[in-house]
Amino acid sequence: MSSSVSIETKIAGAVLPSCLYNASGPLCSTEDELHALGKSAAGAILSKSATREKRQGNEEPRYVETPWGSINSMGLPNEGYEYYAAFAEQAAAAYDKPYIMSVSGLSHEDNIHMIKALSGNKNVTAIELNLSCPNVPGKPQTGYDPEQTRYILDKVFEVAEHPVGVKLPPYFDIPHFEAMAEILNAFPLSFVTCINSVGNGLVIDPDRESVVIKPKSGFGGIGGDFVKPTALANVRKFYTLLDEQIAVIGCGGVKSGMDAFEHILCGASAVQVGTQYMREGTNCFARIGRELEEIMSRKGYKDIGSFKGRLKDL
Ligand code: DHB
Repeated sequence: MSSSVSIETKIAGAVLPSCLYNASGPLCSTEDELHALGKSAAGAILSKSATREKRQGNEEPRYVETPWGSINSMGLPNEGYEYYAAFAEQAAAAYDKPYIMSVSGLSHEDNIHMIKALSGNKNVTAIELNLSCPNVPGKPQTGYDPEQTRYILDKVFEVAEHPVGVKLPPYFDIPHFEAMAEILNAFPLSFVTCINSVGNGLVIDPDRESVVIKPKSGFGGIGGDFVKPTALANVRKFYTLLDEQIAVIGCGGVKSGMDAFEHILCGASAVQVGTQYMREGTNCFARIGRELEEIMSRKGYKDIGSFKGRLKDL
């Protein structure tokens, strides 16, 4: 590949050698999985959304692939935030890329506690605060409640020492984008990641006449091909509505270099891979990166800044 093409990017003041890295969720829960990301071509290591205490998550089956994407209702299985905080030291010693921690408390209080406790951990590059887990029974998504979002961000920025970004659920109505953007612009956020899975979809098996995952009577978050147009719409809208210093990170339906190119054209500064990473493993980052470089060299773009956000209207 042409060495004159760079897919490097910068998020939260840190350089990512590649704009492609993992979405929080698949294969980023254990030290082995996090090391595999460190050794791969992923531009950053992003950990599984952590809660205050270790969790087993929901009953299995809780993740199923379909030809068009995935449905999951994992229920936040994770080792607890202290485990992911401790991994930061290993990441810094071994890999030349940022280590970002996803935090998804079961309450506002838990989020504040974890973010405060991470203060002083210089090996955590940034925090992705997850406002959009759809899978914990009885817990609404904070990202769908503007006033709760304002409340938690107020508290978070009282205590946070790290750069903080938020992982958002998908929005579908223009006034909802506008209401959220107004709130997000009021805080010194480093980035927003669009989108989390499309919440509470239902995949069924007509042969068995049943749902395909066990928790929540089969309802779960949808990812993969299904969600790309929604992801692109969210990246584009927030890119146009948010202040310039808040980077947008694209996530949703990325399985090729062209998908990543489309996210960046809509305004993404970096692009996460979820369902396809689950399918393909860490090789996806090098492959998608090569495909993106090929597209860029064909089009004469030397870096992602040359086309980021430059989607044309008709
Ligand atoms: C889970 C799913 C999500 O979409 C998310 O943002 C966090 C956690 C889960 O079910 O584990």
